[in-house]
Amino acid sequence: MKYLISPAFFLVLVLAVTAQDKFNPYQYSISKHFTGANGAVVAAHPLASQVGVMILRKGGNAVDAAIATQLALAVVYPGAGNIGGGGFMVIHLSGGKDLTLDFREKAPLKGSRDMYLDANGNADLNKSQHGHLAAGVPGAVAGIFKAMPYARLPFKQLIQPAIDLAAKGFVITGAEAADLNDDRELFVKNNTRPTAFVKDIPWKAGDTLVQKELAETLIRIRDQGKKGFYEGKTARLIVAEMDRGKGMISLEDLKKYDAVWRDASVFEYKGHRVVTMPLPSSGGVLLPMMMKMTARFPIDSFGFHTPKSVQLMTEIERLAYADRAKFLGDPDFYAVPVKTLLSDDYITSRLRLYQPDTAGDSRRIASGDVTKESEETTHLSVADKEGNAVSLTTTLNGGYGSHTVVGGAGFLLNNEMDDFSVKPGVPNMYGAVGGEANAIAPGKRMLSSMTPVIVLRSGKPVYVTGTPGGTTITTSLYQTLLNLIDFKLSALDAVNQPKFHMQWLPDTLYVEKEFPEALKATMERMGYKVNSRGHIGRTELIVIDNGKIEAVGDFRGDDTAAGY
Ligand code: DON
Repeated sequence: MKYLISPAFFLVLVLAVTAQDKFNPYQYSISKHFTGANGAVVAAHPLASQVGVMILRKGGNAVDAAIATQLALAVVYPGAGNIGGGGFMVIHLSGGKDLTLDFREKAPLKGSRDMYLDANGNADLNKSQHGHLAAGVPGAVAGIFKAMPYARLPFKQLIQPAIDLAAKGFVITGAEAADLNDDRELFVKNNTRPTAFVKDIPWKAGDTLVQKELAETLIRIRDQGKKGFYEGKTARLIVAEMDRGKGMISLEDLKKYDAVWRDASVFEYKGHRVVTMPLPSSGGVLLPMMMKMTARFPIDSFGFHTPKSVQLMTEIERLAYADRAKFLGDPDFYAVPVKTLLSDDYITSRLRLYQPDTAGDSRRIASGDVTKESEETTHLSVADKEGNAVSLTTTLNGGYGSHTVVGGAGFLLNNEMDDFSVKPGVPNMYGAVGGEANAIAPGKRMLSSMTPVIVLRSGKPVYVTGTPGGTTITTSLYQTLLNLIDFKLSALDAVNQPKFHMQWLPDTLYVEKEFPEALKATMERMGYKVNSRGHIGRTELIVIDNGKIEAVGDFRGDDTAAGY
């Protein structure tokens, strides 16, 4: 499938992305499906995918391509691609090693448990979600440099496409124009200096977005490395922005920030080895819990999108997410009982609560609302011809994060502080509740749902996948993996077929609007409260089968699969 971004602005010239080793920022196309043998990149924006493939063609490996793609996304996909946010990277090296890198943001050292409570003890979600105080200490640039020892090409080469895209500009898609227009007031309200994202007349597809200040920041990172962001001029600009907007990030926070290698969360499922991110990714606990529960049932014989399989999966999602709220948080600050949660005995005890053919009942406590539709985290998957693979999810949290652009430095800060439990029982922007385990503490990382995944068979990567979507991330991936492994769907269907989501609280089964009506009605008859909502996630999938590489970009956005 190929779509022109804007027939009004582009010649009808659909270049096969496979044939390109250069990219044209003023004329490009979205491509949803790639098959080939040498390498592939799937990312949320065609230009970012093309940058990744160009790096592969120039001799870079999957890590080189992932770094270059992430940096390009920070320019061409400002709603979620970032240098002012954080994320997780899962790497499989062809020699057999699996690595997981945590570059999640941290609470500033001046942060405290009750920092978002007002004088009456009520949570002020405006402060945790918008503007300067919502920002955690960014981790993205530290993550990139932590991963560099596994890259092959010089960093200067990996960052140059992003610098060029920022300095010379690129044409924006219709989706980007709509998002920038929707959020205009938030940009105006949360900034102390003019930003590249606000102009006098509405944005439209085909307009050129130039980000001169961002280009200068990227040049400082190119020339000074990690210090080009965490020290010197960029750090001073961040702190000056904090001073103007009553934020908390200090020079000390920036200087002390580092990314960390963690022990991967690894589990077996029906002849597959699933490698994913451990805490502070909740997915590293929830995905194995859900798949271990699923393995107790012959779900393949229940069939795809049958009442029996959807009911079982919904109840499994409910059981896992109930534990998320209570137990999960930054393992550097809170003793999370991961071993117990993943033990066979515990899985057995949880499944005693399962009743087939009828809706379960989440306990009645404060419930949230996950109907707000934000797609503004972003995932990219890369595979190279040598057998290396990278699965990388990165986020500003909400679309365009805090909407605060660092004056003079041109990049958006995240609003990741809202992923903490700002008050026990008060739902965050994804309706997730939490307590002690995920309470704010200085230097602590907020719990995340980001779940980049690499699945191996006989030690070799077969699936490289991940998605944005807040708390729906882990349930989306659970479904994508079952779609592939149990229901034997094609790669395209595994990604594009409608998804559903249950997260314990609220006690509601959310389904995409394309979810079959008859199935929805059957679920309602079983006692489920079913709500239709907008799209769930934007899954990027690479399937590797006997040297054949197939890549799929989710139909739900501008996502593009490219390769050579
Ligand atoms: O880390 C998390 O769980 C969230 N900040 C992710 C946000 C996200 O996926 C936004 N997209 N819907």
